[in-house]
Order: sequence, then structure tokens, then C-alpha cells
Amino acid sequence: MQTREIKILFKEFESVAELPAQDKQLIEAARSAALNAYAPYSKFQVGAAVLLENGELITGNNQENADFTDGLCAERVALFYAQAKFPSVPVKAIAVTANNGKGILEEPAQPCGSCRQVLVETEVRFNQPIRIILDGKQHIHVLDEAESLLPLAFKPKALNS
Ligand code: THU
Repeated sequence: MQTREIKILFKEFESVAELPAQDKQLIEAARSAALNAYAPYSKFQVGAAVLLENGELITGNNQENADFTDGLCAERVALFYAQAKFPSVPVKAIAVTANNGKGILEEPAQPCGSCRQVLVETEVRFNQPIRIILDGKQHIHVLDEAESLLPLAFKPKALNS
């Protein structure tokens, strides 16, 4: 038996002003997308902005439903649309923000498990890491790859092993 360790690294910024210009632009796009979320039930508005390798910027927000189980998170709305429209263009980065009705969350938005799984699949699909920018009022977290959000992820190769 061996005890193995997985480390994840992320950068923590204190304000949007400290971020590189491109990250700043993505956060701004995610924040405006959040305002258009359809979240009448949770009142928790999430916005995501996806940057593609060809420079396209695609935004998404959460879409809820009265039956509760048929909604979709902002990240997946944006990622699926990006991949539907540009199926051969890699995803470079994604910014995520959330607003709980009192404004942007104090601490960085955290993608749910299903969105993490889809982010990892997108990395595998294009064989390229996705920069993750998680927005919060007090702190902003930046990770170099989606895999850091989901260590030991289920990946497509498992289907053929
Ligand atoms: N939500 C997202 O859009 N992204 C996440 O990663 C976490 C949760 C949405 C789903 C639902 O509409 C609302 O936030 C409350 O869970």
C-alpha cells in the first residue's frame, strides 16, 4: 500500500484590478451575463464567459425551470453553446461569477461537480488546458487547468480501458 498525494495550485488575487487584461475582460463579461440569468427559484444568478482559441467570447448564465431538475448551470450553457457553434475550436479560458441577490459573492464562485466534469471533458477533447477564473469580491482564484478542480476525474479513456 502507498499513500499518494495530489497537489493543486491556484493563484489568489485581491481584486480584479490585479488581473491580466484578458482575465479582467472575461470577468466583466461573466458579470454582465449573470444579470441575464433566468433564476427565479434560487435567485442565485451565475454568469460564465468562455474564451476560445479563435478569440470568440461566448457567455452563458444559469437557466432554471419550475420542475427544478431541468435547469442548467451557467458554465455548461456557455461551454455547450461554444462547442456547438465552434466544434473544432479549443476552449482557452472560462470565468465564472455568481450573484446571490446581495451582489457578487464575497468569495470565489465554485463550479458544481457536473460543470467540473464537463470542463475536464473539454480539456481532454481539445487536449489543451483551460484557464479557470473564479470571481469573488474579496478574492479571485485562477487555476491553470480544469483538472485541478476535479482530481482523479472520470475521463473518456476509461471507456476503452
Ligand atoms: N449554478 C450554476 O449556474 N453554476 C454552478 O456551478 C453552481 C450552481 C446555478 C444552478 C442553479 O440555477 C443555481 O445556481 C442555484 O444552485
